[in-house]
Amino acid sequence: MPRPKRGADHGRPRRLRRRPTDPARAPFGSAHFAAVAHLVKAVRTRPLPMNDRTYIFDSELRIWRTPTHDSIAYSDGDEVERRLLSILKQTRDLSSTSDELRKQIVDWPTEYHFSPTRANLLRPFRIDKSQRILELGCGCGNLTRYLGESGAHVTAVEGSVVRASIAAERCRDLANVMIVADSIELFTSAGGFDMVTLIGVLEYAPLFFRGR
Ligand SMILES: C[S@@+](CC[C@H](N)C(=O)[O-])C[C@H]1O[C@@H](n2cnc3c(N)ncnc32)[C@H](O)[C@@H]1O
Repeated sequence: MPRPKRGADHGRPRRLRRRPTDPARAPFGSAHFAAVAHLVKAVRTRPLPMNDRTYIFDSELRIWRTPTHDSIAYSDGDEVERRLLSILKQTRDLSSTSDELRKQIVDWPTEYHFSPTRANLLRPFRIDKSQRILELGCGCGNLTRYLGESGAHVTAVEGSVVRASIAAERCRDLANVMIVADSIELFTSAGGFDMVTLIGVLEYAPLFFRGR
């Protein structure tokens, strides 16, 4: 599998280079995920069965993962991702409109991952706590955070373990958000969803999806 030379947001092949100017999102939901959210809180170390794939909670990274998942090679660069995680660890106000995070915007990656305006893509949608939402390719959790603040049961899938852990840090105070490190094409869930989002991901299909 080819690995982008530099951060995928910065060094991607020219034909794939796209600077997202707007955010987008989609909604989903159900009772299985209420149970999952409860499990995340109460049974954090027990295997979580989701159809034929079993996810185990990694309490250090705060993510659900399978023992066999190979992290995909998408990255903004090690230094950038370390910096994003470090900022989030030191941030008290992690909200989607956080001024603390807005002040940390100094370059393209910090703008992409911390800007509150990216959630404008999702703001037109009515999302509430009765819904179950599946976010595919959640990256470092900018939009996951917004979705989670609605109170909906959010399952966010991210192929890069490092980025999944950054998303988990962004949502560390939201018990209704579950971050799963897995490939989109392998992820399975026992329940359905009211809304599914795929934002800024499809253009990477030639790089990170198996088959055609
Ligand atoms: C451009 S980022 C968008 C992140 C997020 N949706 C956002 O808007 O902030 C694309 C993300 O999708 C993830 N991704 C791409 N292909 C994937 C796959 N096959 N399985 C899981 N994650 C994938 C990448 O790792 C990356 O974090």
